[in-house]
This record gives sequence, structure tokens and C-alpha cells, in this order.
Amino acid sequence: MKILVINGPNVNMLGLREPEIYGRKDFAALLEYIQEICAESGVEAECMQSNHEGAIVDAIQAAYGRFDGIVINPAAYTHTSIAILDALKAVGLPAVEVHLSNIREREAFRHISYAAQACEKTFAGMGFHGYAEAIRYLAGKLRH
Ligand code: DQA
Repeated sequence: MKILVINGPNVNMLGLREPEIYGRKDFAALLEYIQEICAESGVEAECMQSNHEGAIVDAIQAAYGRFDGIVINPAAYTHTSIAILDALKAVGLPAVEVHLSNIREREAFRHISYAAQACEKTFAGMGFHGYAEAIRYLAGKLRH
């Protein structure tokens, strides 16, 4: 069972970036955490991060036939990208959306998620733990 974990723009700036919102742990710590959870869950994970919308669309397309599911934090593209939504719909892989912060309790422009329309679940406002929930959800689903 193999999943692709996608992180969008500025997620690589964790630790430095608005720590009062995103916490003090850096991106390397997030990647390590994801691998730990995957190992525990019996899932193989590949992680990609990009600041470019097209690169994320390319990664989703390339996931078809290579991965069994997708965990995605599209970051700011959550609220703008129909291209990412369409790519998720095109490949039809089970997908779960994650946000470190609680987008529903932040600025109004963060309340809309296009990606959510192609995702089975959203975990938001749980910090790193949201990735664990998403991975465990996909592992459980794919096993049955
Ligand atoms: C985010 C929330 C988005 O609104 C924001 O643009 C991000 C990160 C989160 O993980 O909380 O870059 O997706």
C-alpha cells in the first residue's frame, strides 16, 4: 500500500513561518513524523512539496497507477485551485485533505476549499496530528 503525501506552497517554511499559527517544528520534522506514522500503519509513503500549482497537478496525475491514495495539504491553493481539484477528480484516487491550522476559524477567504470537493475527509486544526489521522484513515480504508 503506497500513498503520496503532497504539501503545497510555504509548507516548507514551517518553523519559521507564523509559528503562532503553524507551530515551531520545521518541515523536516513533519516529514519525519509522516514516515513514522506510515511505518506504524504499514503504509509506504512518498512525500512531495512544491510552491508551484502546475507541479502539484503533475504530481497528482503521475500518481495514477503508482499510488493507492493521496494525502494533500494544498496550502494556499486550497482556496484558489480548480486545477488541483480537477486533477484529484481525474485520477480518482482516494484523497484526504489536511490543514495544520483550522481554516474554518481563520479569515473568510480560507473558508472555501476547492480540494475538499474531491477529498473523502478533511482534518484541519490538529497540527501534525492531522496528517496521522489522514494516513490512518487511508490505511484503514485501503485495507478493507
Ligand atoms: C494551510 C492553511 C492555508 O490557508 C494556508 O494558505 C497554508 C497552510 C494549513 O496547513 O493550515 O499555507 O493549508
